[in-house]
Amino acid sequence: MSKTFSKALLDWYARFGRDLPWRFKGGAHPNPYIVLVSELMLQQTTVKTVLSYFDKFIKRFPDVQSLASAPLEEVYLYWQGLGYYTRAKSLHQSAQIIVSDFNGVFPSKKEDVLRLKGFGAYTVSSFLAFAFNAPQTVVDGNVIRIMARLYHLTDPVDEIMQDVIQKAQNLTDTQNAADYASAIMDLGATICTKKNPLCNQCPVSDFCLSKNLDDKEQIPLKKKILKKDFNGYVYVIKNKKGEILIRKRTEKGLLSGLYEFLWSENKLFNNAFETDLYVSHVFTHINMKLKICTLTTQKTPSDGFFVKPEDLKKYAFSTLMQKVIKKSEFFICT
Ligand code: ADE
Repeated sequence: MSKTFSKALLDWYARFGRDLPWRFKGGAHPNPYIVLVSELMLQQTTVKTVLSYFDKFIKRFPDVQSLASAPLEEVYLYWQGLGYYTRAKSLHQSAQIIVSDFNGVFPSKKEDVLRLKGFGAYTVSSFLAFAFNAPQTVVDGNVIRIMARLYHLTDPVDEIMQDVIQKAQNLTDTQNAADYASAIMDLGATICTKKNPLCNQCPVSDFCLSKNLDDKEQIPLKKKILKKDFNGYVYVIKNKKGEILIRKRTEKGLLSGLYEFLWSENKLFNNAFETDLYVSHVFTHINMKLKICTLTTQKTPSDGFFVKPEDLKKYAFSTLMQKVIKKSEFFICT
């Protein structure tokens, strides 16, 4: 069965596979750097979003040497808005490791790839498959959904993972691991979609136990993530020269290394003006909502430093903080 499944899938991919700037049809990508950048960008981020960043990033950092020698701050600027910023730091560190420890030659052995930063089980396999056509099975969200539906696995997703991995490995065409991985991702992205799967256009529907069943959209059964609400205040603080106060986040933890306005769950300044404007953002485990407050001050607060409004663009902010800039333009620019 596995040969016929992979053949049907690869034939379909040859005709209908997506044309993506980091993709190379017909085996290993000739440029592993392209694979490195794209795989780190694509972690937890959609193809559509990555498409609007990828070309600019590669234009500025065309090879591993240029990335390794760039300041991290500049890498953050090109990552601004993509989220999960530790990936940018990992990518930058990985480039430096490749240059310093591997002489600029990309590692192709699993144990060497594991010395890079930001590489978990998924990224190691996808990197090796796409960059070297190594016989790896790539298991991302698309593959989990496809395996669960193919075999009609109705238990919660965390309980079926071992089974999913085993089944995905059995079906992989290890001779054509790169194309096979691209093909199954495309099947998940365009045919076996979360909602409204297009079973009548599916090249492997003959193999699918869920095809004629009504519960296919519920498969795989999601593990519920409990999100906490966080409500607080964010302060746009101006000095008499019209400069705006920002600070750098610590190098560790959520949004590390990015810049931000002062914010807190409790009020920090009683003399600040509370606008009726809010910014909100959904993080992996938190629904965050901040009320925008403005303040003009003579003092230099102990935390942060002042920058000219026109220089704000030189600093990388999270999406949430960019929303603050946008919403408080009236205050920043007057
Ligand atoms: N998601 C992760 N890697 C991908 C790739 N190479 N193509 C499309 N989607 C992906």
